[in-house]
Amino acid sequence: MTRRKLVAGNWKMNGTRADLGELDGIAASALAHPNVDVAVAVPFTLIAAAAERVPTLAIGAEDVHEKPSGAHTGCVSAGMVREAGARFTLSGHSERRADQHETSHDAWAKAMAAHGEGLSVILCCGETEAERDAGRAERVVQAQIEKSVPDNAHADWFTLAYEPRWAIGTGKTPTEEDIASIHAIARAKLRTMIGDAANAIRILYGGSVTGDNAARLLSVDNVDGALVGGASLTAAKFVPIIEAAA
Ligand code: G3H
Repeated sequence: MTRRKLVAGNWKMNGTRADLGELDGIAASALAHPNVDVAVAVPFTLIAAAAERVPTLAIGAEDVHEKPSGAHTGCVSAGMVREAGARFTLSGHSERRADQHETSHDAWAKAMAAHGEGLSVILCCGETEAERDAGRAERVVQAQIEKSVPDNAHADWFTLAYEPRWAIGTGKTPTEEDIASIHAIARAKLRTMIGDAANAIRILYGGSVTGDNAARLLSVDNVDGALVGGASLTAAKFVPIIEAAA
């Protein structure tokens, strides 16, 4: 099955209004490559300004709370980010699993809440270096998928991202064989949960993707795009990744 490539950026805790000009070049590249879907998740503070500035580009949130409202100081709901202009959210990013101790169940609940508000979801999974060294990478990813993929996930609104934690921001990437192996296992796991609908779901690779390695990584079997952190912060670094996917 042919799946459109998706190149998604994640600005993490980076960026102020002064940086929004970078989105102009990214949006222009997205328009110039209509065979690729392009999206950028930005900090909550930038969602509204980004969505207004580049309305053709899919702007998203990096996280949402699982509840619609209530006494949750410092948290932001899916409905709030949708109102601000977000079209999607990340869920279960490994930095939230590590820093905020979020579980796969939390990632599931956030994904369900986001879908309930009409947002698309990019759900992240991936093993630590210790888990890989112990030969547990496959089982860890399968368990994360089992517990965090939202009910009735559908390609219209759901994307999975495999991000080995040890590859994030380190300049290290798995071998193509290792990526192909995990992506195949991830798709097989999705198939046990949602049947043939799994064939249409995009599985992104994330972790130290750059303009230099994107073409190689994006050519791996079952790699349907990239989730990009550091190299998404400027158009100069992100556009070559969009071009590699085109
Ligand atoms: O969400 C993006 C990933 O954590 C990858 O980050 O491209 O800086 O390694 P990175």
